[in-house]
Amino acid sequence: MTDLKKIFSGKKVLVTGHTGFKGSWLSIWLKELGAKVTGYSLIPPTHPNNFEATSLKNKIKHIIGDIRDYAKVKKTICESKPEIIFHLAAQPLVLYSYENPLFTYETNITGTVNVLESARKTTSLKAIVVVTSDKCYENKGKKEGYSENDVLGGYDPYSCSKACAELITRSYIKSFYGKSNDTGIATARAGNVIGGGDWGTNRIFPDSIKALIKNKEIPVRNPNHIRPRQFVLEPLYGYLVLASKLIENPNKYTGAWNFGPNKSSCISVKEIVEKIIYYWGKGKRKNISKGKVESEMNCLTLNPGKSNNLLKWCVIYNIDEAVRHSVEWYRKFYLKKENMYNFCVNQINYYTECLSEK
Ligand SMILES: NC(=O)c1ccc[n+]([C@@H]2O[C@H](COP(=O)([O-])OP(=O)(O)OC[C@H]3O[C@@H](n4cnc5c(N)ncnc54)[C@H](O)[C@@H]3O)[C@@H](O)[C@H]2O)c1
Repeated sequence: MTDLKKIFSGKKVLVTGHTGFKGSWLSIWLKELGAKVTGYSLIPPTHPNNFEATSLKNKIKHIIGDIRDYAKVKKTICESKPEIIFHLAAQPLVLYSYENPLFTYETNITGTVNVLESARKTTSLKAIVVVTSDKCYENKGKKEGYSENDVLGGYDPYSCSKACAELITRSYIKSFYGKSNDTGIATARAGNVIGGGDWGTNRIFPDSIKALIKNKEIPVRNPNHIRPRQFVLEPLYGYLVLASKLIENPNKYTGAWNFGPNKSSCISVKEIVEKIIYYWGKGKRKNISKGKVESEMNCLTLNPGKSNNLLKWCVIYNIDEAVRHSVEWYRKFYLKKENMYNFCVNQINYYTECLSEK
């Protein structure tokens, strides 16, 4: 934390997607590290949301804008003169991407081009972290986890758009930033994230909490589907370390990075729902699978060896700790007695204490 404070304190940082789940947490963390944060995104994608729950609007420079609007993205970057950009604004939902592929491709692909193109014309920049996803890889059923050099690809519009964002970033690095450049550019690939403040559609954690709060049974569609899951602060810590390394040595750290959870955090939907119920204290789940319950699905996992070795990044919380801290956040939120910004800061501080111990 002290090292990160030294790097980020007083730095101008632009976060795109700051009204979203991960972007709001990242903006809070940066603010606490002393950074001067500007956020650029559309209005919060859900109600409720972490951005409003924490009154983040009053703590950072908050700009509502569409990432597809090149002129506005460029103006924001030119005027705010960031030294670091974290690009998270995206349409992040696989199911929605089938309903609206055009919006997904425009936001995730054109949006990334707009950020990188605007950044190219700015002299203040030292580091850019483009957040993509574990779904950027072509899923060939590889059991040992995908490494950064594995083939990109993704069949649904969301996964494909994130593979494209990877290729676009690589193209910008190769075409416009030579060997001795002053700006480090990286992509960050993380898996499914859980944590307080997420109300995204068709995500098992928010769906479970929404049911529990109404004393309803939790609807479970694919109980045996296995997914890798990690606490929200884990990949965010990875992004922060990555940005700090990009500033320190842009040539060495430019490139792609995996921030995946441990194998033990790959658990079935049924198991995670049971854990949510356990930490919530009561509740039931209801199987709503149509027809035969599918057995374990081909689960895509990341090999985080490069981040472990070169960034000294590793996962801190096991899956029980990740679920416990997430449930605690929602409990506090619904009790309406807590200042949720302070509670997020407490969770960040506790996480960094665990980090130092590890
Ligand atoms: N949540 C996860 O499990 C997960 C896993 C891997 C990768 N990611 C990636 O992390 C990033 C953040 O995901 P999240 O879960 O916080 O999503 P989210 O839906 O909570 O937030 C998305 C953010 O992007 C903004 N946005 C969407 N379309 C926009 C547009 N056209 N112009 C400007 N802003 C726009 C939204 O307003 C919001 O601020 C995304 O890039 C996502 O692909 C998320």
